[in-house]
Amino acid sequence: MTVDRIEKLKLQAAQANLDAVAVVPGPNLIYLTGLSLHLSERPVVAFFSVEREPVLLAPALEEAKARSAAFGLEVITYTDTAGPGAAFEQALDALRLVGKRLGIEGRRIRFLELDLMASSRYAPKTANADPVIAELRMRKDAGEIASIRQAVEIAERALAAARGSIQAGKSEREIAAELTIQTLLAGSDAELPFAPIVASGENGANPHANPTERKLQQGDLVTLDWGATASHYFSDITRTFAVGGTDVHPELERAYELAQAANAAGCAAARPGATGQDVDRAARGVIDAGGLGEYFVHRTGHGLGLDGHEEPDMKEGETMPLEPGMVFTVEPGIYIPGLGGVRIEDDVVITSDGAESLTTLSRELMTIG
Ligand code: CO
Ligand code: CO
Repeated sequence: MTVDRIEKLKLQAAQANLDAVAVVPGPNLIYLTGLSLHLSERPVVAFFSVEREPVLLAPALEEAKARSAAFGLEVITYTDTAGPGAAFEQALDALRLVGKRLGIEGRRIRFLELDLMASSRYAPKTANADPVIAELRMRKDAGEIASIRQAVEIAERALAAARGSIQAGKSEREIAAELTIQTLLAGSDAELPFAPIVASGENGANPHANPTERKLQQGDLVTLDWGATASHYFSDITRTFAVGGTDVHPELERAYELAQAANAAGCAAARPGATGQDVDRAARGVIDAGGLGEYFVHRTGHGLGLDGHEEPDMKEGETMPLEPGMVFTVEPGIYIPGLGGVRIEDDVVITSDGAESLTTLSRELMTIG
């Protein structure tokens, strides 16, 4: 599997006029090699040359793990005492990249690695390889989709288990803690995609609110945004609930109806050949028509996989046709300052003739507490 991916990477790299691609620990390294290593002060770089076998530069303590990769890989190590400088010289010399173009991860590589490469006698030129790797990663295979589906199922079971403790009088922090515990107990990998968002009352007007000591009150809306991890793949789900079920502010009830209709319109627009822009316009159009467009302050969705946010984006200007196997969120939200907010986020996969929501939770306004 990883050999296939590396061969595809080489083809994409060559098309982009890159002679090699350098990858540091994180989602791209897992995707290409299956190796889960730490991005720490000890640099690790995998070099995928178009012309020769990959080279992995790693600290000596990771050597056994590095050699466990199920494909041909030259491993060059350094000790803590020696430091990584000479290992970078050796790797870049072996790769013959002087004056050639090395693709790097624009959103992930650090000054640490770039400086070690730039200081080498064999320094290559660098260019951003993120779009090249995204071309591969955004087309998920059946195994990847199965992992995301499993991550969604775990997150949904976690909510079911936590639901009894989500009630008036409980603080946002207590609910976030309970949701985290239940996500791990439901079978998530230990590394969650992100810390849960629990935003109640007026805090719901902040799309990325951190849980506070605020206690839930009857009549609040409370927005939960959480996810689970299965085999390194993420889910990312949001639901907004009515606390106690009574006295929800009429403007928030109206916002909920619009967000729900926008979510449905966005999901319905997702199909092969449609674009991220089409999905965004379908969802945004509903909220605009309802007069609350100024409160929908973010894109409609983002790709999902080994990263919590990856390609493709559901936003204006995204004109790449969607293809079967692409996975992304549809998450319209309405945030009214001083009053509160609503978001309904599903994880969607493009199928041969439409799209399937991996999220199965109801989208109706549900009461808790
Ligand atoms: Co989310
Ligand atoms: Co999201």
